Amino acid sequence: LSSYPSYMSLLPSIQTCNITNLPENYFLKYYLYHALTWPQLSFVAVVRSPRKSNRNNNNSDYIHDYPKVVGYVLAKMEEEPSDGVAHGHITSLSVMRTHRRLGVAERLMRMSQRAMAESHRAHYVSLHVRVSNTAALRLYRDTLGFEVEKVESKYYADGEDAYAMRRDLTPLW
Ligand code: ACO
Repeated sequence: LSSYPSYMSLLPSIQTCNITNLPENYFLKYYLYHALTWPQLSFVAVVRSPRKSNRNNNNSDYIHDYPKVVGYVLAKMEEEPSDGVAHGHITSLSVMRTHRRLGVAERLMRMSQRAMAESHRAHYVSLHVRVSNTAALRLYRDTLGFEVEKVESKYYADGEDAYAMRRDLTPLW
């Protein structure tokens, strides 16, 4: 995200992607806090929608200047880890329906985990996921090698339980 030319301008599009795909939503300043505090750890997948130029009526005259976020991973380092071990945390991940099952989430997650290990010497990465979220569970457990650490009862605002999951990052050091 930090390497994107004008990542500040992408924040509303990231927020739209989040609101469209998840019930856990955040104020814009929370995205900004992640981007400014841990600029290496969050990533976006964007598409540039072709827009017809106003300059003339030539059908082939398109300009591609509207980057739209179709996926993001919002990640941070745990600021006061209760176990005293430096580790990263996935705050939120989502991919627009139009762009699912293309490997976007896997790629975003791998990039963030690598940055946690290389930039911050994170020992592991943690996250929470709804126990009913089979798609995300398959991604985390089967594709990425996360393990369930514990079940956190009524973790979500609607009363659903969460799996607290984690993955060792020391092999990436
Ligand atoms: N059903 C079963 N397995 C799935 C599914 C699914 N619907 N989606 C992904 N997987 C698994 C598969 O093993 C897949 O590999 P394959 O396609 O070769 O079989 C692997 O994960 C990688 O899939 P990706 O294509 O990288 O995943 P995608 O880009 O489609 O995004 C995601 C997956 C993020 C879960 C997406 O479905 C989504 O945005 N869902 C709604 C939001 C959400 O649940 N986010 C996670 C909340 S938890 C958190 O934010 C910490």
